[in-house]
Amino acid sequence: MSQLLIQGGRRLDGEVRVQGAKNSVLPILAATLLTGDTVLLGNCPHLRDVEASIQILRTLGCDARWEAEGLAVDTSRMDGCAISDALMREMRSSAIFLGAILARCGQAEISYPGGCELGPRPIDLHLAGLRSLGVEIQDAGGILRCRAARLRGREIVLSFPSVGATENLMLAACGAEGTTSICNAAREPEITDLQNFLNVCGARVSGGGSSTVVVEGGRKLHGGAYTVMPDRIVAATYLCAAAAAGGTALLRDAREQHLSTVTAVLRQAGCDIVSDQAGIACVCQRRLRAVRTVRTAPYPGFPTDAQAVLMASLLRSRGATVFEENIFENRYRHVDELVRMGADIQVSGRTAVVTGVETLQGAPVRCTDLRGGAALCVAALAAEGETRVMEIGHIDRGYESMERDLRALGACVRRTEAEA
Ligand code: UD1
Repeated sequence: MSQLLIQGGRRLDGEVRVQGAKNSVLPILAATLLTGDTVLLGNCPHLRDVEASIQILRTLGCDARWEAEGLAVDTSRMDGCAISDALMREMRSSAIFLGAILARCGQAEISYPGGCELGPRPIDLHLAGLRSLGVEIQDAGGILRCRAARLRGREIVLSFPSVGATENLMLAACGAEGTTSICNAAREPEITDLQNFLNVCGARVSGGGSSTVVVEGGRKLHGGAYTVMPDRIVAATYLCAAAAAGGTALLRDAREQHLSTVTAVLRQAGCDIVSDQAGIACVCQRRLRAVRTVRTAPYPGFPTDAQAVLMASLLRSRGATVFEENIFENRYRHVDELVRMGADIQVSGRTAVVTGVETLQGAPVRCTDLRGGAALCVAALAAEGETRVMEIGHIDRGYESMERDLRALGACVRRTEAEA
């Protein structure tokens, strides 16, 4: 099992190019099924979750290979419509394939993606929406057998703006007759990226980024080339790294319009942040100060995925900051590990209070989940001495190479194999 060894206490000074967005590319990979053709995805990040999606595509009879320009996916020879339980559990967002397989084949068989590190991950909103498009779903022993002789477009109102449900329904709606309106849709930038990809391939989708996404279904899609948007959560992670360690970081390709709630909080804490077409620069010269209550919310609110890394950056701030986690039940699992490094954090239900301490000390810590793992790396940069971050398989699900990027920013980090 690999681990990261991080020497803390050095100010950062460097620049890094932000990788393509995991949460964009996963639904886009599912969407390639709709084209029955070849798609070239530029800026596709090399990640464990991308490999899991490639595995799913291959079990469905499709071909995917890395080329110099990106990932080439050919879905013309798709010959399956079932995803095994093992693959469904490998990656939590595998549920997005359901809408795409149904649009292409009219039937699909998957199992539940299962619970995850963040707590239960129900897909009831996905299934209710698919049913209203005309899908019959039999749920027996954890296997979902889905069939749709005809998918019919209609208005669907989501009771919560779920990102995954919005994406799943957009994909199914592309294969439906007539127009589908998804109301109370998620507004995350990744929804717009999926819309843009679908439209490049001949779909007619509009409203992405607003609360109503409209899909004119029944159009024949074709292949094309598309460049995946930069990852706003990876950008948030490295901004928080600079805030925690102090110094200067330039994040090339990062887009501040996707990150404005995060940059607003970091400015409040005392960082200087400037951005332009090329990216975002962050300069942190002083000890940070505590900020007003940080409440996670659906986009354009503060992203739940940036909660842990922001918390890590404020551990040595002056004063106390309150966090309120409103999206996932179980999203403070990194807290116990941060406390091992000397952090002062009190958790009660969905609230966590971080009181800044003078110093943090390096310690052996374990990743509990993807963003929690990234938070341990951020805290390690601000700690005295060496931090050993273990179980980094979680981090590899979403960061191409945390050690490469942090080194580019001037940190002292190396990956080693832990002894059994
Ligand atoms: C996506 C992101 C994830 C991010 C999350 C919230 C991907 C691959 N993952 O996850 O990184 O943290 O958005 O921004 O894009 N819910 C239900 N029923 C459903 C669907 C969701 O109750 O059918 C609940 C969930 O349990 C959760 C909340 O809604 O409490 C948000 O979930 P959702 O927006 O669907 O997140 P994901 O798409 O799973």
